[in-house]
Amino acid sequence: MDFRYLILMIAFTTVEINLTESRQNDKRRWKSEKSPYSQFVNICDIQDRVSKVHCYCENIKIKTATKADCWVFNGGIAEDDPFWSNFYSQPKIERLTFNVRADGGLTYIPAKVIVRLDRLQYLNIQYANIFSIPSFAFTNSTTLREIALPKNKIGKLERMAFAHLIMLANVSLAENQISELQRDVFYVLPNLQRLHLSKNIISVLHDGCFKHLNNLIKLDLNSNLLTVVIRENFQGLSNLITLDMRNNKLMMIGDLSFAELWSLQELYLDDNEIEFISERGFGGLTQLKKLSLADNKLGVLDDGVLDDIQKLNVLNLINNKLETLKQETLRSVIENMKSNYALISLDGNRLICDCRLSWLHKLRNETRSKRVKASLDRLSCVMDNKLKNNLVNMKTQNTDTQLKINSGYKKEIDRSDDDEEEFEDDIYDDAMKDQDIGFDVSKKDYRRKLMEIPVDMLPCASKLSYEATFSPPTQDEVKYYKTSGCEKCLASISFMALCTLTRIL
Ligand SMILES: *[C@@H]1O[C@H](CO)[C@@H](O)[C@H](O)[C@H]1NC(C)=O
Ligand SMILES: *[C@@H]1O[C@H](CO)[C@@H](O)[C@H](O)[C@H]1NC(C)=O
Ligand SMILES: *[C@@H]1O[C@H](CO)[C@@H](O)[C@H](O)[C@H]1NC(C)=O
Repeated sequence: MDFRYLILMIAFTTVEINLTESRQNDKRRWKSEKSPYSQFVNICDIQDRVSKVHCYCENIKIKTATKADCWVFNGGIAEDDPFWSNFYSQPKIERLTFNVRADGGLTYIPAKVIVRLDRLQYLNIQYANIFSIPSFAFTNSTTLREIALPKNKIGKLERMAFAHLIMLANVSLAENQISELQRDVFYVLPNLQRLHLSKNIISVLHDGCFKHLNNLIKLDLNSNLLTVVIRENFQGLSNLITLDMRNNKLMMIGDLSFAELWSLQELYLDDNEIEFISERGFGGLTQLKKLSLADNKLGVLDDGVLDDIQKLNVLNLINNKLETLKQETLRSVIENMKSNYALISLDGNRLICDCRLSWLHKLRNETRSKRVKASLDRLSCVMDNKLKNNLVNMKTQNTDTQLKINSGYKKEIDRSDDDEEEFEDDIYDDAMKDQDIGFDVSKKDYRRKLMEIPVDMLPCASKLSYEATFSPPTQDEVKYYKTSGCEKCLASISFMALCTLTRIL
C-alpha cells in the first residue's frame, strides 16, 4: 500500500512536470521579481524529485493553500535544513500534516515551520521518530487549536513542552512511549479541553501534573500502566467531565482519590485489577452520573461506597466477583435507577440467589428504564441445593410443567460422567432458551435467572428460614456477609497499609 502510494506519487510528479513546462517559465519569472517570497520554492508544487519533503495541497498556487499534507522521504531532513523556510510560500496554511515514511525521518517537532505559519490551527505528525518534546516546542503559537502527535515514539515531555498556546483545545499523544508525566509539562493552556494520552506506558503521574488545566473537559488515560490513583494526581481539574482510566493496573481505590474532580460526570475504570474500593473512594464526586467498573476483581462493595455520588444513574459492574449487591449499597441512588435513562449492569458476577437480591425484583417492577429492565431480566444467580429443590417441588406441584421436569431429570440420568462437558453445554443452551427445563441438582454452581425465581422463595442467610424478607438484614445476614468477605477485607487492608508506607518512603 505504502509502496503503491510512492509509485503513484512519482507518476503524478512526472505528469505534473510535463504539463507545467510553460508554468515553469512563469515561475522563473516570478522568482526573479522582487517579491519577499521570491527566494522560496512553493512547497505545494515541489518539482525536485529528490526533495526530502513533498506536500499535497488543496490549492497549489502560491500563497493560496490552506491545507497541506506533507510526506517526509529520502532519509529525512535536518532541523536546520534551509528547506523549511520554503513554508513561507504558503503562509495561509491552517491544517498541516506530516506523515513520515519508513525511509524518512523526522526526529523533532518542526518549530521552524510552525513559527512561519501564522494561521496554523491544526498540526498532525505521525510515524516520526520524535523521542522527546522540548520546552516551547510549539513556539508559543497563538493560532494552534489542535495538536495530534500519535505514534511517534515520544518518551519524554520536557517541562513547558506544551506551553503558552492560548487557542489550543485538543492534544493527542496517543500511542507513544510516555512513562511518566512531570509537573508543568502542560502550562498556560487556557483553552485546553481534551487531552488524549491513551496507549502509552504511563505508570507515574507526578502530583499536580495537570494543575494548570483548569478547563480540561476530557482526560483519556486509557491503556497505560497506572497502579495507584491518588487525589494529588488530579489537582486543578475542576472542570473535568470525563475521565477514562480503562485498561490500567489499578488494584484499589483509596479514600477521596477523585475528590479534586468536582465536575466529573463520567468515570471509566473498566479493565483494571480493582479488588477493593474504600468507603469514601468516590468521595466528592457529587456530579458523577456514570460509573463503569466492568472487568475488575471486586468481591464486595462497601455499603457507603456510592453515598457521595447521589446523581449516579448508570452503574456498570459487569464481570467482577460480586456475590451480592445489597440494597444498602445503592441506597442513595436507587431512585435515580428508576429514571428513564438509568442503567445497572451486573452480568458476569457470582451472584448468589438469596434474599439480599430481592430488592432487585422491586427495582425491576418500579423502574421506568427499559435498559434496567432488560439488564435485570437477563441477570442470573447461583442457587444452593435447597433453593433448587424448592423450585423443583414447586414445579412438580404444577401439573403443567410435570412433563418438562421429568424430561429434565431423564436427561440428567441418561448422562454419564464421561460426557460431562457436553452436558454443561446443554445446560448453557437450556438456560439461554428455556429456563423451565434447565436445572441440575448435581451441579454446585447452577445458575438461574433471578427474575424467574419468585421473591418469596429466595432464601435468607438464616439457615432456619427460607421465607422472603424485605426488611433490613438480620444479624445472621450481617454475620454471613462479614464472614464471606473477610479474607478479602484483610488483604485489602494490608495492601492499603503497604501503599501508605510506600508513599511515606
Ligand atoms: C514563550 O513564552 C514564554 C513566556 O512568555 C517565554 O519565556 C519563552 O521564551 C517563549 N518561547 C518561545 C519559543 O517563543
Ligand atoms: C477537538 O476534538 C473534538 C472531538 O474529537 C472535536 O469535536 C473538536 O472539533 C476538536 N476541536 C478543535 C478546536 O479542534
Ligand atoms: C410489582 O408490582 C405489582 C403491581 O404494580 C405489585 O402487585 C407487586 O407486589 C410488585 N412486586 C414486587 C416484588 O414489588
